[in-house]
Amino acid sequence: MKKATFLVLVLIAMFAFSTAVMAADGAAIFKAKCAGCHAADGSGQTSMGQKMKIRDLRTADVQKQTDAELTAMIATGGKANKPTHSFKSKGLTDADVTALVTYLRSIKK
Ligand code: HEC
Repeated sequence: MKKATFLVLVLIAMFAFSTAVMAADGAAIFKAKCAGCHAADGSGQTSMGQKMKIRDLRTADVQKQTDAELTAMIATGGKANKPTHSFKSKGLTDADVTALVTYLRSIKK
């Protein structure tokens, strides 16, 4: 392979990688940061979820909350200030949190 071709390929790969990382992907973040308690499908059917009595995120009870409420819940732990949440202090950006709220809306039953 010519050196120039190789360099172009490296640049394309770097570009693809950086956009993948930068575009906040709610589904991917959910899997990485939330599924441990909430389960990959949002049902809450994990041993942790059952112990903590987490509600199924897909149900009306959860979905009736406003975007602002869900955002606050994820970013800061909401009104009750849940330390399990407050993901903003754990490195999630506003865009990440918005992507998560969008994702939660998409799994609504
Ligand atoms: C350590 C376990 C844990 C992790 C990790 C976790 N949660 Fe939760 N989550 C809970 C618990 C427990 C509740 C129930 C509220 C409470 O009592 O704290 C909850 C409640 C919620 C609610 C409100 C549900 C309701 O009943 O109204 C939302 C929305 C939510 N979580 C989203 C997320 C998102 C998004 C993430 C990932 C960024 C996440 N959670 C990560 C434990 C967790």
